[in-house]
Amino acid sequence: MTGGGLRYRLVAIPGDGVGPEVVAAARRVVDAAGRRFGFGVDWTEIVAGGAAIDAYGVAIRPEDVETCRASDAVLLGAVGGPQWSDPSAPVRPEQALFALRGGLGLFANLRPVKVHPALVGSSPLRPELLDGVDLLIVRELTGGVYFGERQEASDIPGERRAVDTMPYGEDEIRRIVLLAGAFALTRRRRLTSVDKANVLATSRLWRRVVDEERRRMPDVEVTHQLVDSCAMLLVKRPADFDVIVTENLFGDILSDEAAVLAGSLGMLPSASLANRRTEHGTFGLYEPIHGSAPDIAGQDLANPIGTILSAAMMLFSSFNRRDAAEAIEAAVSRALDEGWRTRDLADPSDQRDGLVVVGTTGFATAVIEALEAAVPA
Ligand code: NAD
Ligand code: IPM
Ligand code: MN
Repeated sequence: MTGGGLRYRLVAIPGDGVGPEVVAAARRVVDAAGRRFGFGVDWTEIVAGGAAIDAYGVAIRPEDVETCRASDAVLLGAVGGPQWSDPSAPVRPEQALFALRGGLGLFANLRPVKVHPALVGSSPLRPELLDGVDLLIVRELTGGVYFGERQEASDIPGERRAVDTMPYGEDEIRRIVLLAGAFALTRRRRLTSVDKANVLATSRLWRRVVDEERRRMPDVEVTHQLVDSCAMLLVKRPADFDVIVTENLFGDILSDEAAVLAGSLGMLPSASLANRRTEHGTFGLYEPIHGSAPDIAGQDLANPIGTILSAAMMLFSSFNRRDAAEAIEAAVSRALDEGWRTRDLADPSDQRDGLVVVGTTGFATAVIEALEAAVPA
């Protein structure tokens, strides 16, 4: 046991749909890891997303963003749902994400994609294509079309026209490219920069900045790839990718596509990092890449792995707890090896003995038991 007695101040944002279920599961795992590794967590829960629209009329209150800023890290489930999705609604749950990402300077969204060997059959791809898949999508998170000026359509039929703009400045591009290059150096030293430079001015600037900065990373093999063909290659030759760096919207789309490699959208974690340190590590917000999954909400059906692995990323990046982070990853892996599956991962063609389909809470229990078995009290 190391680092005894440390306490971390964590904000939990359960959100909407399956968000509260997967956050509750991950909290139990973090608390169990704390008991084994000698740290404590002071949890503060805040309301954001559709739940905050219902309670306060806004997707997130400014004071709740400040609570997040004053914490060591934030763990978020998901926000949104059909009851708040009317396109003419003045407030939308997803605004909470932009207030947090933009307001807290969370510019770097890391989305690692690995394939657990026991889940190869859960992916629709042929098993041989999944061999060796281990990639990291580095998504720029506070720029581009998400934060550009927009003009909503008027209500006059025949005259309805809307505008979204996609601004990027060179400094925003440079900092994410350099960070991605630094990650590539610790991995297989391959960096694929993804853009649409044959159409977009922002992509041409992106490409120029990448070409300027690649001189600073002589040990990294840097290539450019257009986003449309990248989408094709991600399913055709996924094992060829190491680090992908791309702008906000492309990263959003490519990462849901990449989740198919891992067997389910419920598998993928993410870390959104700021350029700021707390007394324990890098400030960040951690969330699975999936959404509120309204179709399965409230039924204990959601796969909590993406959120549990996001919590492991939090322990690693925000608290420098490599020990606890690796123990959680190993416990998830062990639970899968032992045959525990949530419904999204149950592969009907897999007739092995010992596969057990459990709910969100049951899977979290299997992870905690695996962790407690592997790490003596
Ligand atoms: P979604 O990711 O919620 O769901 C897509 C499909 O994947 C659904 O069939 C769902 O059941 C399944 N799925 C997702 N997570 C799962 C899990 N953990 N376990 C098992 N199956 C899972 O995407 P959507 O339906 O397009 O969006 C629903 C809402 O979520 C929208 O309002 C959207 O804006 C919001 N959303 C929020 C976030 C976030 O808070 N960061 C991210 C993505 C989408
Ligand atoms: C994500 C989500 C969000 C995004 C939506 C809900 C605004 O898809 O976190 O990946 O597009 O960033
Ligand atoms: Mn997304």
